[in-house]
Amino acid sequence: MGPLPLNELAERFDTPLYVYDLQEVDRRCQAFHTAFRDVDFLLAYSVKANGNLAVLRRLASLGSGADIVSGGELHRCLAAGMPAERIYFAGVGKRRDEMVAGLEAGIGAFHVESAGELSLLGEVARASGATAPVGIRVNPDILSPTFHEYTRTGHAASKFGVPMDEARDLFRWAWKHPSLDLRGAVVHIGSQILDPAPYLNAQRSILQIVRDLKSEGIELEYADLGGGFGVGYQGDPGLDPGEVAALLLPELAPTGLRLLLEPGRSIVGEAGILLVRVLYVKRSGGKVFVVTDGGMTELLRPSHYGGFHRVEPVEEASDRPTEEVDVVGPVCESGDFLARERALPLPEPGEVLAVRTAGAYGFTMASNYNSRCRPAEVVVDGTRVHLARRRESLDDLIQGESIPDWPEQGTDPSSAS
Ligand code: LLP
Repeated sequence: MGPLPLNELAERFDTPLYVYDLQEVDRRCQAFHTAFRDVDFLLAYSVKANGNLAVLRRLASLGSGADIVSGGELHRCLAAGMPAERIYFAGVGKRRDEMVAGLEAGIGAFHVESAGELSLLGEVARASGATAPVGIRVNPDILSPTFHEYTRTGHAASKFGVPMDEARDLFRWAWKHPSLDLRGAVVHIGSQILDPAPYLNAQRSILQIVRDLKSEGIELEYADLGGGFGVGYQGDPGLDPGEVAALLLPELAPTGLRLLLEPGRSIVGEAGILLVRVLYVKRSGGKVFVVTDGGMTELLRPSHYGGFHRVEPVEEASDRPTEEVDVVGPVCESGDFLARERALPLPEPGEVLAVRTAGAYGFTMASNYNSRCRPAEVVVDGTRVHLARRRESLDDLIQGESIPDWPEQGTDPSSAS
């Protein structure tokens, strides 16, 4: 992300505040399109990373599609103007009503993860007199080297995908089903992967299935190799799509298959910053705590996955003494922190800190825990600034709740005779 007037933005929109640089989104997107220009390629951006409408609109205008996992994400994509035929519906637990919504919208395909789901999709399609385009997600049993066990999805013991030995039967079943239109084979092996090699292994698993099916007369249109491309949380460049393309294309291009990829983090991670303001600097038990107005409710990654995010003062601070600090939030949990044991120029209360590489799985995992209002989101495009989501208000917090108007039952012990 280039130099942005972060202090000004914090002043104007208050903190905690998410800021997304749309030109960085453009660059990340472009890198994929350049890397895979020699094949028929669709970037199906993974909406769970950042589903802000302004971000989705930008991606749609760049020719991207979307990888979604819920009726809610479908609603967002359509509201942002994403063409339905570029939307692919993944996830292990689709409900009937979500299938109906996808069919009515005319999405690109449903990515199915079990025999039960495939059978329900066939039934739902038949009942609505439609044909459901479908891809089947296989589980290639690859242990991808990601930073945390929660972000590995390609091994046999994960809940995702259909085991390779069962997958062929499912493809055959879908091929014959009159209300299903079998289109693709799908795999997603994990998230924050920095080594290109597991992608080649995943592709080989998929191409093997494609070849086997072809020999039986079953033709697939596309291979979807999922997302997972790692970013540089430590300031490093992350996984280069060009490097992955160089490994994949020699075996993929001759097949003539269309390629889908579902990057999320690598498109928006680096484009986002979370701004928080220092409230207090507190010394306790030999430690220095920098207490800010943002924490695990705004950015869950450090607490939930031990995720590392660089934290930097937005004002020049090189003349200040550096100390080892924990940057913590106001939430009543010991696990509420943004950074631990980090050398930082000791900030003053009132100062703004930038938490870097926060554009992915930041706002989308934010919560109202401790009845905190979720932060605002701002998009920046060169010198243009737009408030893309206003900060939640106190009334937003209680909206939709109600108190029953039952007669009181005399539960106050002081009123007992
Ligand atoms: N496709 C599928 C089927 C997925 O499950 C995911 C992510 C993606 C694509 C996008 O993966 P990406 O390119 O963003 O790595 N909350 C965690 C990450 C969870 C990823 C879940 N699935 C985190 O903050 O690290």
